[in-house]
Amino acid sequence: MLRSTFQTLSKRTFSSTSINPYKVAVLGASGGIGQPLSLLLKLNHNVTDLRLYDLRNAKGVATDLSHIPTNSTVKGFAPDQQQPDALRDTIKDSDLILIPAGVPRKPGMTRDDLFNINAGIVHDLAQTIAKEAPNSSILVISNPVNSTVPIVAEVLKEHNVYNPKKLFGVTTLDLIRSSRFLSEILKTDPTKEHVNVIGGHSGITIIPILSQLENCSTLSQEQKNELIHRIQFGGDEVVKAKDGAGSATLSMAYAGATFADAVMRGLNDEKNVVMSSFVDSPLFKNEGIDFFASKVTLGPNGVEKIHEFGKLNQHENEMLETCKETLKKNIEKGYTFVKNKK
Ligand code: NAD
Ligand code: LMR
Repeated sequence: MLRSTFQTLSKRTFSSTSINPYKVAVLGASGGIGQPLSLLLKLNHNVTDLRLYDLRNAKGVATDLSHIPTNSTVKGFAPDQQQPDALRDTIKDSDLILIPAGVPRKPGMTRDDLFNINAGIVHDLAQTIAKEAPNSSILVISNPVNSTVPIVAEVLKEHNVYNPKKLFGVTTLDLIRSSRFLSEILKTDPTKEHVNVIGGHSGITIIPILSQLENCSTLSQEQKNELIHRIQFGGDEVVKAKDGAGSATLSMAYAGATFADAVMRGLNDEKNVVMSSFVDSPLFKNEGIDFFASKVTLGPNGVEKIHEFGKLNQHENEMLETCKETLKKNIEKGYTFVKNKK
């Protein structure tokens, strides 16, 4: 399914026909992710109205992108004297809101170390979304995703506008890394490798289910362990290589644009659009874990179906238990933050 999503995105990216008019807002559009993400959305013919919001330079980025001859209009919004209601104007009537606003990691930091700054940013953005665009699909990229998604949910609940089918934590980067890293070992076509990745989006909460892949049975246990570790800590690889200049931006922009395309295709009633995402999920609710990443079918109302993740081997079951402990704490941390804001 991931392959077909990639193929559809690249086909439509350069197609000349307008398919569906979606209004898409990017909050944090001038950042490392925001700029290339906005470029990819500008190339997507499902997007006809692209709104870019940031505390700095959104108008510059929008003007730059607006010269590209695709079907969409692009407008930049910044909260200054000329646009005191910039955020409201950005998101009003939007179909999709992507949120990459927030600070990225530096070497030595965990995603959770970003909580103190990013929780507040996401909380405040969600307050305005709740008032001005409660029917949009909300795609949260800002880390720590395991906590920022519950924060958005709680804010929407406070305003009585929470629709669990339309809130997504974007975990697509874990999928694309899995495809790429596995193909490097097997020497196969990365677009044909699809790993079922479940859990959350940070270190040990990321669980790639290799036992479900026939071609992984040829790998030694050591190779599998190395691959699992690389998928779980792929983000650290980029943070280390960037050496203080941030975290993944370009691969994340690709991942975010791929996921946004899938959400729009679902809204457009395309059948069998299946992607993994960190969503409000029944899978472990009875254990107090309200959000979990697994495959979901996307449709006109957002999440149409949350898939069971299938059989795990003993090692994967152990990983799942550790994942759940951390995930529960991450989710509760988000809830507590919103409660203390009242
Ligand atoms: P960046 O610092 O380059 O860009 C962030 C942008 O957000 C900046 O332009 C900044 O001005 C803007 N911003 C800050 N506060 C804002 C606010 N209140 N309203 C609007 N805009 C605001 O960072 P980046 O590299 O683009 O990363 C952004 C976030 O995405 C980080 O939290 C990072 O950890 C996360 N991330 C998530 C994934 C994922 O897989 N979900 C992958 C990579 C990065
Ligand atoms: C990633 O997986 O690359 C992102 O979550 C950014 C990070 O901090 O690692």
